[in-house]
Amino acid sequence: MASIRSVTKKLGILTAGGDCPGLNAAIRGVCRAAHGLYGMEITGIANGFRGLIYEDTKPLSPEDFSGILTRGGTILGSSREKPFENDNKDELASDKVSAIMETYSKLELDCLVVLGGNGTNTTGYKLSREGLNVIGLPKTIDNDIVGTDRTFGFHSALAICTEAIDRLHSTAQSHSRVIVIELMGHKAGWLALYAGVAGGGDIILLPEIPYNIHSIGRHLEKRARSGKRFSIVVVAEGAMSLKEADMDKKDRKKYRNENGPSVAYRVAKEIQEETGMETRATVLGYMQRGGIPSASDRVLATSLGTAAVELLAKGKYGRMVALNGNDIDSVDLSVPEGKVKNVPINHYMIDTAKAVGTCLAD
Ligand code: F6P
Repeated sequence: MASIRSVTKKLGILTAGGDCPGLNAAIRGVCRAAHGLYGMEITGIANGFRGLIYEDTKPLSPEDFSGILTRGGTILGSSREKPFENDNKDELASDKVSAIMETYSKLELDCLVVLGGNGTNTTGYKLSREGLNVIGLPKTIDNDIVGTDRTFGFHSALAICTEAIDRLHSTAQSHSRVIVIELMGHKAGWLALYAGVAGGGDIILLPEIPYNIHSIGRHLEKRARSGKRFSIVVVAEGAMSLKEADMDKKDRKKYRNENGPSVAYRVAKEIQEETGMETRATVLGYMQRGGIPSASDRVLATSLGTAAVELLAKGKYGRMVALNGNDIDSVDLSVPEGKVKNVPINHYMIDTAKAVGTCLAD
């Protein structure tokens, strides 16, 4: 089919930040539409922004982006490189940004497509302020990007977390134990909230609501009196107690070094001290970011990828494609810049959790 005319002739694509299922589906969406509809040339950039700093790139052909829809991870590799930050004395931000600008022009790119979370889209925005043409796609299992109703990666992680919580119910019941499961979500509790509701967690602890250990104790004891001698506590890795919330960063770090760096183990210890109930902790960790994407994430990632190409064809740069209700939309790249989308205290899912008797320890 003859290619449709496009303002963008050559694009570079990179994936940065924490990986997740759906990244390859998004890469495929971008590349198949760009190449198939508009005949655009595509350069793959390795390991996030490091690939631009160190000119670690290669042309992508249809063979490269074929058969990757269902593959986890990212064929391009990723890193948490933050070019605008001096992370060590050997790599000055100014040198890194200059290197990026040089590689972009040496490759004769018309645009850079960045797939990533808050940090990646913020870097994309800053590079657009330096004069690069940038389009962002919202990726993260945390679902905490301002400007989009959902990020790809979230639904896949939600399914993994829900299955884990289901599995914990049988072992907790067999041993009449309280089991605390820690999920990812350093700053925002979307994954813990949704997986806690989906998995029937009895208590859900979010970064947004510092927990009161006495509320937790009362809830567990009430369950025990009603004959439920087991409970599941779902905790986001960024959750903290009221006591920790009152500490400054330095004291909080010291407290965590003394009481275990993982919130699940701290909460389990506090529960055991508060109630005397036998309690265990488990951290789901990187399982939440592995494996094949859910059908929902494949659809969202592909839709966002192809929508990004429509913006490229029209030369509409400086945007992040986004889910807006049931529609694919886009927002200015400044919208997510430097922000985190936290769970609003009045969010309907908080009400839903409470309505079915879940304790949020507020
Ligand atoms: O940003 C997504 C995320 O999975 C967070 O939930 C988690 O805290 C972080 O990445 C882990 O980062 P890393 O992969 O660098 O250890």
